[in-house]
Amino acid sequence: MIKKTLIVANWKMHLNTHESSLLVKRLHDHIKQHRTVEVVLAPSVLVLQPLSLELDRRVFRLAAQDANAKDEGAYTGEVSFTMLRELVQYAIIGHSERRIYFAETLETVRDKVQAAVRNGITPILCVGETHQERVNGETSRVIHDQVTTALSNLTPEEIEDVVIAYEPVWAISTFGGEIAKPTDIKKVLDLIRKTIADLYGDQSAQHVRVLYGGSVSADTAPGYLAIDGCDGALVGSASLNYKQFSSIVDVAYRLSHGEEEIHG
Ligand code: PGA
Repeated sequence: MIKKTLIVANWKMHLNTHESSLLVKRLHDHIKQHRTVEVVLAPSVLVLQPLSLELDRRVFRLAAQDANAKDEGAYTGEVSFTMLRELVQYAIIGHSERRIYFAETLETVRDKVQAAVRNGITPILCVGETHQERVNGETSRVIHDQVTTALSNLTPEEIEDVVIAYEPVWAISTFGGEIAKPTDIKKVLDLIRKTIADLYGDQSAQHVRVLYGGSVSADTAPGYLAIDGCDGALVGSASLNYKQFSSIVDVAYRLSHGEEEIHG
């Protein structure tokens, strides 16, 4: 089974409408439609609507960076997955900045994952241990708890469509940006797949796309995307620079071509 490599740009709280539109023009010049790579942009929620009119949907897809787990109601300032369903194919859920700065619990993340799926949006569930948890030897427990709770309200069929991004908090550029070793990452990617296989069966585990995120740049991407079992990357700061981001997409093209040849 050949899965498309998924490269996701998380623009976080950067770029207004005009700046986003300029970056997208540059990306259109440098990134072309490709059979084996899917490129997803996650701009600010404000920009989703205008970008959806500018984007070549054959080349780029859109993701929300977050949304509320309720479909509608008196929740001042919030946006629901229901409101986003015509605009985005994906939603980043449970990013460590949401868990840490906005106190999102395991249960909040679980409810958001369920809400996304209910609204036909594919969750990109972020999991990852903090520096302290790593030092304490708690990585496996943390990942296991985050994965099992987040998926606990989904059926095995729904889980097949979910994307999981392993983002060790200590490796995210704005939280320290330590460069994670591909061998360490592989262990956690394997653990994520094994956790899903144990709970929901091999088929779900094989279908789920598991990404890596944390200081992915043009320089580090080749090592990360070559990890066996790594289905793509979630890119933060490097995604704000069109040269960096298009070269990460290029690496994905090249590596996925290799895969195609191997599999015939
Ligand atoms: P980074 O961010 O690539 O800047 O480390 C990744 C993320 O936070 O998703």
